[in-house]
Amino acid sequence: MQFGQFDEFNREYVITRPDTPAPWCNYLGSVDYGAIISNNATGYSFVKSGASGRITRFRLNSRSNDQPGRYIYIRDNSDGDYWSGSWQPVCKPLDLYKSECRHGTAYTIIKSQYRDIETNTSYFVPLNKFYEVWGLRIKNSGASARTLSVFGMVEFTNHDHYENDTVNLQYSQFISKTYFKGNHILQVINENGSEAAADVDGGCDAMGDPSFRFFGVAGAEVAAFDGERDVFIGNYRNYGNPAAVEAGGCSNTPAYNGNSCGALQIDITLNPGEEKEMIFLLGAGDGEIAREIINTYDTALSNNTDLAGQQLEELKHLWHSRLENLQIDTPDDKFDNMVNVWNAYQCFITFLWSRAASFQYCGLRNGLGYRDTVQDIQGIIHLDYRLAKERLCLMLSAQISNGGGLPLVKFDHVPGKIETPDESEYARKTGQSFYRADDALWLFPTVMTYIKESGDWNFIDEVIPYADRGQTSVYNHLKQAIQFNLDRQGPHGFPAGLFADWNDCLRLGTKGESMFVAFQLYHALSIFRDFASRKGYGSDVEWADKHMERLSKAIDDFAWDGTRYVRGFTEAGYTIGSKDNEEASLWLNPQTWAVISGAAGGERAGLVLEQVYRKLNTKYGAMLFYPAFKKFGLPVARMVLFNEGTKENAGIFSQPQGWLILAETIVGNGNRAYEYFNEINPAAMNEQAEIRVLEPYVHGQATEGIDTLNHGRSHVHWLTGTASTVMVAAVNGILGLQPDYDGININPCIPAAWKYFSMTKHFRGKLLNIKVDNSAGVEKGVKHLIINGKKLVGCYAAFDGLSDKNDILVVMG
Ligand code: GLC
Repeated sequence: MQFGQFDEFNREYVITRPDTPAPWCNYLGSVDYGAIISNNATGYSFVKSGASGRITRFRLNSRSNDQPGRYIYIRDNSDGDYWSGSWQPVCKPLDLYKSECRHGTAYTIIKSQYRDIETNTSYFVPLNKFYEVWGLRIKNSGASARTLSVFGMVEFTNHDHYENDTVNLQYSQFISKTYFKGNHILQVINENGSEAAADVDGGCDAMGDPSFRFFGVAGAEVAAFDGERDVFIGNYRNYGNPAAVEAGGCSNTPAYNGNSCGALQIDITLNPGEEKEMIFLLGAGDGEIAREIINTYDTALSNNTDLAGQQLEELKHLWHSRLENLQIDTPDDKFDNMVNVWNAYQCFITFLWSRAASFQYCGLRNGLGYRDTVQDIQGIIHLDYRLAKERLCLMLSAQISNGGGLPLVKFDHVPGKIETPDESEYARKTGQSFYRADDALWLFPTVMTYIKESGDWNFIDEVIPYADRGQTSVYNHLKQAIQFNLDRQGPHGFPAGLFADWNDCLRLGTKGESMFVAFQLYHALSIFRDFASRKGYGSDVEWADKHMERLSKAIDDFAWDGTRYVRGFTEAGYTIGSKDNEEASLWLNPQTWAVISGAAGGERAGLVLEQVYRKLNTKYGAMLFYPAFKKFGLPVARMVLFNEGTKENAGIFSQPQGWLILAETIVGNGNRAYEYFNEINPAAMNEQAEIRVLEPYVHGQATEGIDTLNHGRSHVHWLTGTASTVMVAAVNGILGLQPDYDGININPCIPAAWKYFSMTKHFRGKLLNIKVDNSAGVEKGVKHLIINGKKLVGCYAAFDGLSDKNDILVVMG
């Protein structure tokens, strides 16, 4: 079933059937004021944190598909019929009600058509502002005049903190009030003094600042209001049939205890063909701030200046200029849609929001997970390496001087002063008391990719503090990261798995060993060796060589199981992922990482990837391992807690699919890399949305494997490491855009059937117009490049040889 389609030109996804299998969402705003909105206008808003700065209410996992949201009701006062500007919450029959939702880059436009009344609402957060706009245009396309009431409605939280608002009702309900202030409703929390002030001297200082939220309207007179949700909605009713709308008007009731809301009624008459515009404004701020913001839009509207329209254009411009840094045109639109717009946009959203706020995460993870964040950075480096660098520096400053990463980097991280997981204080503050084995190893591919994209080799010498004490160069940070794993090894000479490696569920401890981390370490050593050799540090090159050789021998001696690499060893000496095991006998990640790290090449690389294809692949992606854990109670493998075929228990965990695509491109299998890309490409499931369920324009965290009742259903939208691994695999692997220190390699690995494609890439201020000629029909291999008319053998273009604008022909064969 299909519910919408891609509008490639406008960089939008257009939903024309609003009864999507799940709420299909988009993100608005920035980390200062963020919002998430579905195709039916459901969702929530927050200031800085989804958990502790929550301003509107939202019930995760509720029925009626996750409500409430940013609702606009329209009532025809001639007969009392009413509907909503988004299909939900009133849900008029779809043969009478037409709806279109356009999710774009940081904005969402929802249109409706019902009984000759058309609405068009643009939801967005203007650039660098801390409030949101719901710009409504309403038009009478019929032949007779209509008298209508329009109601804008938002449900506030009673407390900034999500948990307090949701479960601590004996407190939070009694600290909130609303006032009507002419063109807006003002909500005040803790009017008699803030909690922060009360805490200062132990209990009852009544001074301190209350917090305020507002919901107002510009361009229209408010006829009536309700500030109390339960009055607006009424008892034994819901958002779909609010008492006030049904009765024909609000009752001017403010909230005092109970549940604050902003409901504003505007009465209008529309002559045939007439259109009116009004702008609802929602944000956190006191009456003065609210008045100023509303006045700005009022003035603009009365001067016929389209302020909201201009702001929307600014937003589009910002986002589109980021995306412009790489644009491609291949024979596959679905591939292009992801690389040009949606996967790229998702990488930015994941980068910005980490795992904070979505329809699955409520924002309670109040910080950045180390591994997730360092990986997320990789997804945007090719589009905005400057932004990537800022976050990369932050993450280096969250590395501990022993080389390990902080499990959770708090949003208010201050390097040099942080306790480590070795200290009880850190555990008390974050709930995390153990090191992960892999955290700091993710720095290697990320630092390398950053340097090669930007050309900023000096970064290697930049001095960055450690989280706990001291400071050193990036180079030494990296050496120390390797040292962390060398200092924590098991009996076979592999890195200990500690509290977890990439698999959150594997608790291998200080003597159990992880082969995923072993391959990561091998990869880290080879990247570090490269850095050391460029710096001319011979003894470090030798040091890296020695450890790579040692590791390589141990891999051959202990981790090669004849047809596959094993996943690890428990402290008790049990081999995880051995072919003789009854359950979980073949794992995906050690095979792909053997190839990515360079530890396995030639025949072995081909062999392990073939095993994966034959034994783990499904039409919706490769499973993390197989068979699922069920009977076998391996205590360190806590994924047995998940139902078989789900997430880490033999599910199709989507992030590793990116590594699988990349590994196939390394060995030159373009057809297979593309097959794997397609299996997981959200756009490729656009016509089977009822199976995949998740938004067809974003990657999810995991898809259900073959052991479940819903093979192919995907879960956990938007905020997932899948965004970056699939992006890297597509750009670096399939498209073959591989920047190097002093130039760029263009070495595609594509399906043989792609005879021709083109790309435009901005590379360190230079424009590359690349055309790829594969009339030879190969999967990989470049005979020569023709750069601005000059022929060069191979696939490497030196930076010095490039002009500001370059025409590059890549001839494969
Ligand atoms: C989730 C976590 C990530 C972890 C993965 C597998 O995606 O965010 O850190 O690596 O699960 O456990």
